[in-house]
Amino acid sequence: MRVIQSCALFFTVLTLLSGCSSAPDHSRSQSRVTPAAITSAAIASAHPLATQAGMDVLANGGNAFDAAVAVAASLGVVEPYSAGLGGGGFWLLYNAAGDEYRFLDARETAPAAAGHDYFLNADGSVNRDKAVNGPTAAAIPGQPAAFAYIAEHFGRLPLTQTLQAAIRQARDGFAISDEYREMANYRLHMLQRYPDTAAVFLDDNQIPDTGFVLTQPGLADTLEAIARQGADGFYRGAVAEELLASVRAAGGDWSAADLHDYRVRERRPVHVRYGDLQVISAPPPSSGGIALVEMLNMLSHFQWQSLDTIRQTHLLTEIMRRAYYDRAEFLGDPDFVEVPASDLMSEARAQHWVSSIDMTRATPSLSLNGPKNIDEGFHTTHLSVLDQDGNMVSATLSINLPFGSAFTAGSTGVLLNNEMDDFSASPGSPNAYGLTGSHANAIQPGKRPLSSMTPTIVSSSEQTAILGTPGGSRIITMVMLGMLEHLQGKAVSDWVSRPRFHHQYLPDLLQHEPDTFTDQEKIALTRMGHRLKNTGRRYGNMQAILWDHRTGQVTAAADPRGIGQAEVRP
Ligand code: GLY
Repeated sequence: MRVIQSCALFFTVLTLLSGCSSAPDHSRSQSRVTPAAITSAAIASAHPLATQAGMDVLANGGNAFDAAVAVAASLGVVEPYSAGLGGGGFWLLYNAAGDEYRFLDARETAPAAAGHDYFLNADGSVNRDKAVNGPTAAAIPGQPAAFAYIAEHFGRLPLTQTLQAAIRQARDGFAISDEYREMANYRLHMLQRYPDTAAVFLDDNQIPDTGFVLTQPGLADTLEAIARQGADGFYRGAVAEELLASVRAAGGDWSAADLHDYRVRERRPVHVRYGDLQVISAPPPSSGGIALVEMLNMLSHFQWQSLDTIRQTHLLTEIMRRAYYDRAEFLGDPDFVEVPASDLMSEARAQHWVSSIDMTRATPSLSLNGPKNIDEGFHTTHLSVLDQDGNMVSATLSINLPFGSAFTAGSTGVLLNNEMDDFSASPGSPNAYGLTGSHANAIQPGKRPLSSMTPTIVSSSEQTAILGTPGGSRIITMVMLGMLEHLQGKAVSDWVSRPRFHHQYLPDLLQHEPDTFTDQEKIALTRMGHRLKNTGRRYGNMQAILWDHRTGQVTAAADPRGIGQAEVRP
C-alpha cells in the first residue's frame, strides 16, 4: 500500500476539512459551473452492454437521466446477480437546469405482513433461510417505480425508447461472463431450489458455460409492460397478478396493496459543505452519506497526510469503527424512526469520537458499549453518468446478495431481491454481511431496510467527481477511500483501483484485500491490537467520472476488479 503523498491540493483539502460546518444543508449547488465547459459525456457502469445502452440513448437525444434508466435496465438483464426489476436502489441526480441535487429513494419496502418477529423461530432465534432465500426474503421492489418516476420528472425520452436495449438484450440474449459463473456458483443450490429460476439462469440445472447465450423472454415481456404503461405495468394488472400468485404459492406474504402502494420517495440528500468543497450523498434509509460525513469530520482533526502507511491505516480504521458504531446504533428508515442526522454529522460528535482514539492502540469495538451485532447483502451495482449539459447521475442499485432471494416470480421473469435481510431481524443478530443493528432498523410493515449504498457526488468550483460502488457493508469505506484519492488530486483510475481495507465496528476485524498490506505492515498493525482478516479476494466494483471545470476535460474509469466499461464520448 502506498503512503499518501502530500501535495498542494491535499493541503487545501485538509484546510477545507478543518473546522468547517458540517450541518446538513439544502440541496442547491453553491459552486455553479458553466455547462459549456464540458467537452464530453461519460458513462461508467459494471457491464459494457449497459454502458453502450446508455451511450446510444445519449446519441439519440436523451439526457443523463434517460441514459441512466437505460443503463440500469440493461444491468438488470446482463448482470442479473446484481440488480434488476425485482430490486431497488438510490439515485442521486444533479439537474443542471435547476442547479439542484435531487435524491430518489427507490429502496424496497417490507410487505404489510412482515412485523418485527417475521424471521424469528419459536425459540427466538433467527430463521436465516427465511430471511435470505425465497419470496419471504423479498421486499416490495422499487426499481420499476424509479424508472417511471425518472422518465416522468427528469427525462426527455419515453420508456419505450430508454428500455429498448434492455428488452432486446432480454429477448435475444447475451453471452454470459466468468463473473456470471462465479456469482451463480455462490448461489447454485438456491438457484436449483426454485424451478422458475433454474429454468432461466441455469443450463440443464447447472451453471452455463462462459459464452452461453442467456435469454429471458419473461423479463422482456415485463419490461415491455413497463415501457408501455409505466409503473402500472408492474404494480397493477397482469404482471402484478402473476407476481402475487407466484410469491404466495411459494410461501411469501405479499398483497395487492403492497404493490399498489409502493412509491418512490424524494428525500433531501446529505449535502455538506467544507468551504468550496461540497459532498452530496445518500441520506437515510441509507447509512452511507451520514457515515461518510462522520468519517470526514473525524479525519479533519488529524494531519493524516504526514502519517506513514501504518499509522494512516490505524487512524482510518479507528474512524471507520466509530462511524459504523453510529450506523448500528442510530440509523433506520426516517419515516419510522427519529434519525439524529444533524447530531451525528456535527463537530461535537466528531470531537466526542476523536477524543477516544488512541494513535498507538486499536480500540476494542465492544469497549465502545454499542449494539452487540448488526445485519446486511453484498452484491449490488453502481452507475455514474454525466451528459454534455452537466446533468449527472450517481446511482447504486441492488437486489442484495448475488441473485437476490434466488426466487423468480413465475412468468414475469423477475428475480426477486432479498433485501429483507438488510433489516435487523433481531437486535444483535448479524446478517449476511456480519452487520448488526438496533431497534432503529427493526422490521415494520412498509418500512425500508437500512442500506449502505452510497451514490456520491463531490464538487468544487474546480472539479466534480461522480462515484459509487457495490459491496454491501464495505460500500461506505470504499467510497471514502476513493474520495480520499480524489481529494489528493489522483487520477480517476487510481480511485477505482486502489487497494482496499475496511472496518465496520462488528465483527471487530480489520478486513483487507490480499495485496493491501505488506507483511511488515500486517505485523505492525497486529501489534497495535488490530485483528486482520484477509478477504481472500479483491472486492468492490467502483464506477467513477471526473469532470474538470477548468479545462472541460472529462475522464472516467471502471473498477479493474470487474468487467465494467467507462466511456467518454465527445
Ligand atoms: N443490500 C445492500 C445495501 O443496501 O447496502
